[in-house]
Amino acid sequence: MRIKIVCHPLYDMTVQIAVLASGRGSNFKAIADAIAAGRCDARIKVLITNNSAAPAIQIAQSAKIPVEIVERKNFKTRDEMDDAILAILRRHGAELAVLAGYMLLLKGKPLLEAYRNRIINIHPALLPSFPGATAQKDAFDYGVKVSGVTIHLVDETLDGGAIIYQETVDISDCRSAEEVAAKILKAEHSAYAKVVDSFSKGHYIVEGRRATYVKD
Ligand code: GRF
Repeated sequence: MRIKIVCHPLYDMTVQIAVLASGRGSNFKAIADAIAAGRCDARIKVLITNNSAAPAIQIAQSAKIPVEIVERKNFKTRDEMDDAILAILRRHGAELAVLAGYMLLLKGKPLLEAYRNRIINIHPALLPSFPGATAQKDAFDYGVKVSGVTIHLVDETLDGGAIIYQETVDISDCRSAEEVAAKILKAEHSAYAKVVDSFSKGHYIVEGRRATYVKD
């Protein structure tokens, strides 16, 4: 008698994510669109924002994604604010926190420790060049011909965690900082969805500053 062995996946690989955004939310939307198009194996469990006027909220509402607003003014300290974020991540079952234009540094030790190597950020330059909030203008003013996108793990430092992905963007033809920002943003959108998807198929091992991707 022949025995036929059928393999069923034992568990769902879809990565459960929370997105943190403070403003426009175009990276958030790009990830949501990639998920809807089947290009990114993730589920957005919640949008967390520190800005009750963030356009990202409308994007979440039209995609029926729950929104949690965590505003600085409602907390005595930044640590307490980050504790509230940690509680939200846990309550929504987020495995990965995706910072997409979240303009505050995460400082809370409990949050950073509980989600060590499971918080990622996107930065519109090739780190360690041009960290901070004005990266595209800084790159343009400096006159570099190539800039790009960096996606990195988040630690206590500003734009300083281990790099997991980089992509170059030729900005030699850009005539203004705004043109640089627009060109890099386009690359950000496809890169971020791709990197989020990678968490559904593997994980990153970090040794010192070096992060290596290992397929599961
Ligand atoms: C992006 O350029 C991202 O790299 C930076 O902040 C910007 C956010 O844009 N961290 P958006 O809100 O995703 O449109």
